[in-house]
Amino acid sequence: MDVVGTRIKDRIKEIKNIPTIPVTISRLIKSLQNENVSIDELSKIISRDQSIASRIVAAANSPFFGYPGRINSIEQSILMLGFDFTKSIALGVSIFSLFHRQQAVLKRMWAHSYGVATLSGLMCSKVSVANRGVCFLAGLLHDIGRALFIKLYSTEYTALMERDDIIAVETDAFQSNHGELGGWFLEDIFFPEEIVVPVSYHHDIAKATRHKGIATTVYLAEGLISLLNPDIACDGQWTEEHEKALEKSGLTEDDIKAYESVLHDELESVNNFFDL
Ligand SMILES: [Fe+2]
Ligand SMILES: [Fe+2]
Repeated sequence: MDVVGTRIKDRIKEIKNIPTIPVTISRLIKSLQNENVSIDELSKIISRDQSIASRIVAAANSPFFGYPGRINSIEQSILMLGFDFTKSIALGVSIFSLFHRQQAVLKRMWAHSYGVATLSGLMCSKVSVANRGVCFLAGLLHDIGRALFIKLYSTEYTALMERDDIIAVETDAFQSNHGELGGWFLEDIFFPEEIVVPVSYHHDIAKATRHKGIATTVYLAEGLISLLNPDIACDGQWTEEHEKALEKSGLTEDDIKAYESVLHDELESVNNFFDL
């Protein structure tokens, strides 16, 4: 590890120590890995944080689940969303709450992340053996390294973050890229490897030697968003490598057309999701 890389890692540790949030996060991460967590335990964890609780109920009332406006308790929401999806939304919301949502640049990034998460969740069953909630969460957190760069090096990073060749530019300026940075951060707060790997390599699928299915799902979702919704493409690009990965994935043109229409409907709820 070079000096700059070490310094970035040290500063990540500082962010992790923001008071109150890590308690909720660590409980949720533990519950993510515990298949036996009961509805009662999960709803207790969620109830402790009002902003997470309200977001869970809002998600359960999304038209996507077919009962808009009719779900009014955390328990009902968990039953509607399912355990894995509930944990993923709660974790996504609590990680995002570490950052200043007011910044315009972050708002656009969150919309992009929500789009990649939605696509990852939709594609999951065809490309990966991971469950939909885990794919959604990996998609939601895939660019968390960019939010970290903004938090750590606001002026320097915002000046270069819109560049097309973002990975090369980041590596040049910081001896690291946002995939690696996000991966270090999530690993440091004990996220499971099946989330850390897709986040670390979402711009370079060849480096993902483990959890290949879920990593490919997020990689393809990142590329597809630039074709399906260029407005929130952010750092997503479609390349020849994506084309090859798509061919191998078994996804059809009809699948992608279907995802596109769900994606457009779902992006309506992005403001509710992040409380933007
Ligand atoms: Fe990215
Ligand atoms: Fe991205």
